[in-house]
Amino acid sequence: MQLKILKWLYQFFRSISRKSKVIANQLRKEIYYYELEERENDIYIVTFPKSGTTWMQLIVYHLLTDGNMDFKHIYDVSPWLSNQAVKGLTPEPVNQLPSPRFFKSHDKYEQFGRGFNNKVIYVYREGKDVAASYFHHNKNYLQPDLTFDKNFENHFTDFDKPLNWFKFNKEWMQNKNGFDILYVSYEDLKHNFVISLHRIAKYLDVKLTPEIIARTQKFTSFEYMKANEDKFGEIAPVKKELVFNEFIRSGESGKGKSYFTEEQSELFEKNFQEHLAKVWPRKIEIKPKLKD
Ligand code: A3P
Repeated sequence: MQLKILKWLYQFFRSISRKSKVIANQLRKEIYYYELEERENDIYIVTFPKSGTTWMQLIVYHLLTDGNMDFKHIYDVSPWLSNQAVKGLTPEPVNQLPSPRFFKSHDKYEQFGRGFNNKVIYVYREGKDVAASYFHHNKNYLQPDLTFDKNFENHFTDFDKPLNWFKFNKEWMQNKNGFDILYVSYEDLKHNFVISLHRIAKYLDVKLTPEIIARTQKFTSFEYMKANEDKFGEIAPVKKELVFNEFIRSGESGKGKSYFTEEQSELFEKNFQEHLAKVWPRKIEIKPKLKD
């Protein structure tokens, strides 16, 4: 009954005016989540955009399946729920996926309506590299005239804008609701891959074998993902003039700082100390027993 009312309200707001489309979109999301059959063993891969989400989706895919790479797009095996909801898709195909399912999410901590019983893998990345990556992403996919400075202002200086990197990470790292979260850094994936894989496998109760390690290393390598970018990048260009490439772009660590002016660097450090330094997870300890 509640679903019927939601659907009726959605059609109503959709039809009356442009302004009411915002309400209609919200209702569409509500309908999507109402129809989604959630499971206690659903896993969420949560990140601020450009922190290594897709990489982690593919790693988890290799840990939880036999790693068949025939899928057309990563979203077919690891959907991004809120994006599907916004696009007006129904969750029917997601409801058919085998357990355990593993979803991509860029939800802010406060928006994350699930998770009390679910496992969450939170991937975080050095902020200056995210700033550079996100700039390229937004320029390529959304705003061809975007400058680095404007993107920096939108996501790293103005805390009132919808998606601030410091605020987003701080809330997820504080984890005031006490969700079950495994924190994995992009840098550890890059420099301590096998050790990170052991951590992730342990968290997901997967017994790692040399075959799984070798297969995961091969198919989640930057080279493989870059060569098969159509399986991982954004789907369906919105505007023709947009470049729409380089979703898997350079995969580097520590180069983002070259985009920063001295002033931007100082502001970044100040904000980092004020908002994140205390909650930023420590680097993983390298246990010499584990072989690469
Ligand atoms: P760059 O733009 O710095 O190259 P997300 O999936 O969260 O959107 O993150 C995208 C970033 O992760 C991009 O960073 C992309 O190149 C990088 N990435 C994706 N797969 C990777 C891999 N296998 N190894 C290293 N970096 C990877």
